[in-house]
Amino acid sequence: MVAENTLTPNDLIWPVFVHEGKDHAVDIPSMPGVQRLSTDLLAKAAKEAYALGIPCIALFPAVDPSLKTEDGREAANPDNIICKAIKTLKDAVPDMGVLCDVALDPFTTHGQDGLIENGYVVNDRTIDALIAQTLNQVSAGCDIVAPSDMMDGRIGAIRGALEQDGYAETSIMAYSAKYASGFYGPFRDAVGSTGNLGTGDKRTYQMNPANSDEAIREVALDISEGADMVMVKPGMPYLDICRRVKDEFGVPTFAYQVSGEYAMIAGAADNGWLDREKVVMEALLSFKRAGCDGVLSYFSVEAAKYMQG
Ligand code: PBG
Repeated sequence: MVAENTLTPNDLIWPVFVHEGKDHAVDIPSMPGVQRLSTDLLAKAAKEAYALGIPCIALFPAVDPSLKTEDGREAANPDNIICKAIKTLKDAVPDMGVLCDVALDPFTTHGQDGLIENGYVVNDRTIDALIAQTLNQVSAGCDIVAPSDMMDGRIGAIRGALEQDGYAETSIMAYSAKYASGFYGPFRDAVGSTGNLGTGDKRTYQMNPANSDEAIREVALDISEGADMVMVKPGMPYLDICRRVKDEFGVPTFAYQVSGEYAMIAGAADNGWLDREKVVMEALLSFKRAGCDGVLSYFSVEAAKYMQG
């Protein structure tokens, strides 16, 4: 009765990995319990998730290696796996929100989020490619675009392109404070970009984990450029950032409990070292306490089931 914060299924966005094929699910070894799904299985899983009260799904593609290129042009192909998944979802569960990442890494041979020139990911040409990717996803039916690339100025450019092409109602959830984190390792396995990235990293465009004021500046820029919602990522190691962002701006604020956070909890629980249900629910509630309006979590479906009792 006196609890200050509550967690409901309505707070959850469920990230799902998709690939080509039919009736085809593949385990992700570094994320025990998570599977990559073909679109028919995705439709079934999404129906179940929506029935549990989860309002939104976030799609991440594992792209066939033969379709990856230097410039990631498959991202703008209207028949790519992500567009197929969006259409399948909109047929199967029309009222469920569909959120898509905007970044080139699942589509590039080098696993970077943008285009490379002279050994660097270049900002402005990358933004043009991101706009093409955005419009492709939105025309397939995506409701929320979530630029996760961390280029400067991309929110304003994407907002402008959406308005110009008649997609004024599309929302932008900006990955505003996205850190160059070791916690993304299992995700890169899941979308098959680990091998492409090799020993490379994303520190020229993702944030330094040492910084906190910089996160506030990044969020301010994204809001001024037209972001409807902002995100902090990873989640648990950055709860201080969530709290600062919410206090400073009061805008809809989300955290991404990323793949490595999933792996830590799932791995420890599988070994009998932690009580899975207790820890999952405590971790998710911590985001609410830190001021977040919602959480992207691989535990979403499981947590919604716990909430049903
Ligand atoms: C792509 C992207 C990443 C994640 C979401 N979008 C990986 C990265 O930046 O390398 C990570 C999500 C997770 O670890 O669960 N830009």
